[in-house]
Amino acid sequence: MPAELDLLLRARYPLIWLDTAEEERAVELICRTARAMGDTVSGWSQTWGLHDLPGAAQSGPHSDPLSLLAHMRSQERRQVWVLADLGGLLQPSGGGQVLVRALRDTARLLRDRGAVIVVVGAGHPLPADLVGSAAVHRLALPDQGEHALLLRRVTAQMKLSVSPEAERVLSTTCLGLTLEQAENIWARIRAAGGRFTEQDVDQLIAEKARIVRGSGYLQFVPTTGLDDVGGLQGLKAWMSQRALGFSPEARELGLPWPRGALLVGVQGCGKSLSAKAVAGLWKQPLLRLDVGALMEGLVGASERNLRDALALAGRIAPCVLWIDEIEKGFQGIDQGNDGGTIARMFGTMLTWMQEKDEPVFVLATANQIHALPPEMLRKGRFDEIFFVDLPDSPQREEIWHIHLSYRVRLGRDKSLLGRLDLAALAEASEGYSGAEIAAAVVEGSFAALAEGGPLEPRHLVGALSASPPLSRTREEDLTALRAWASGRARKAG
Ligand SMILES: Nc1ncnc2c1ncn2[C@@H]1O[C@H](COP(=O)(O)OP(=O)(O)O)[C@@H](O)[C@H]1O
Ligand SMILES: [Mg+2]
Repeated sequence: MPAELDLLLRARYPLIWLDTAEEERAVELICRTARAMGDTVSGWSQTWGLHDLPGAAQSGPHSDPLSLLAHMRSQERRQVWVLADLGGLLQPSGGGQVLVRALRDTARLLRDRGAVIVVVGAGHPLPADLVGSAAVHRLALPDQGEHALLLRRVTAQMKLSVSPEAERVLSTTCLGLTLEQAENIWARIRAAGGRFTEQDVDQLIAEKARIVRGSGYLQFVPTTGLDDVGGLQGLKAWMSQRALGFSPEARELGLPWPRGALLVGVQGCGKSLSAKAVAGLWKQPLLRLDVGALMEGLVGASERNLRDALALAGRIAPCVLWIDEIEKGFQGIDQGNDGGTIARMFGTMLTWMQEKDEPVFVLATANQIHALPPEMLRKGRFDEIFFVDLPDSPQREEIWHIHLSYRVRLGRDKSLLGRLDLAALAEASEGYSGAEIAAAVVEGSFAALAEGGPLEPRHLVGALSASPPLSRTREEDLTALRAWASGRARKAG
């Protein structure tokens, strides 16, 4: 139960302006509190007139709102009135001046009798003349408990039992949806033969992505698993352990939500890939925040856009908010030639990271550290800062294995892995990044295709030597990066 609405009702606030698109749920919540308060509830809508709540809608008297308000004034009882459709009728464009006056008078009169009037509707501004009389409240989206209840109701109808773990994962993933939206998704999952297990979470996330469409600056990105990432054991172990941070046990211990991690390091070594993997591991949606596009927006508008994007992420939470190459977005923070927009946005971002209490895990990546403002690195912003270095020999072997396995899976050369000496390939690719190894597999495959024969080690080694690794051509960058990272960041590898 959203505590604030409960409180407003119990305080017998005479006029509550309830902003929500979830009328049914609002009515249910109001009725629950009213019952606890020992009050009866009457509802009104343009189509049904006055009727009792809860209960199926039935035509009642007073379909005219002015006649309704007159009837309300004649009632001596302490009770709750839930008025739908009135929000629109009260607008000046709808000629609502007289009605505004009547509502104000009614609320004032009924206040002394302990009655509460709730005007329920979506997105109507409170008329200026009611500002002094009404409490505006925006109904929060359903919490996990409400989604779990709905899920239980839906599955009980189907005579299915849901494991507590599946219930937790599925109901948590529903955060950000209305109950009606969730119910529609359950119907689709059911139609597709889903058994409401943890397996259904992928479809749920996909459906959710379609409903809660990202803004231009926030996009849903497909995730992968940890198996797609070679090496980076330290990072993987940390991510697996932090998964517990979302568990009910961690909540019971009062532990904070995992906040975020910053991955700094060599280009092409799996930072972006790790972002996709962590979301996949945690079974959470991955949202990419496009800081570059945000910055290109009009000055002023970009700050609002950032705030909107962060708020949207909060509604979708739990989720992973991915800020790729964060240094690019906040470049030029010192120059001050943009009227301070970048600095202000950066401040907004940092404050939000510090204060957010929704489980939005911020995963930021950076290829360059000199562009990163020092405030970003201060303790308390990120749980951990990882340095992603070039892969060593065993890690390269894993990466070769992963990318050659894709070839095997996708192609018809099923004996490929048996013919190749992965250790030798790992040696031959000293100094190469994961991205460069992945590229060599593709290049080598094309070379073999051109020759009309199977893929052989020489094709792969040939592809490597055809393009020297970045670590050789940009050696100073690498040295500087390593020097910075030592003592400041934890090793991901
Ligand atoms: N550790 C790794 N394991 C497997 N593949 C990798 C690894 N690092 C890089 N790759 C390959 O290179 C591609 C680009 O890597 P990416 O994660 O974008 O690098 P970064 O973000 O660190 O610059 C990945 O999509 C993947 O195909
Ligand atoms: Mg990247």
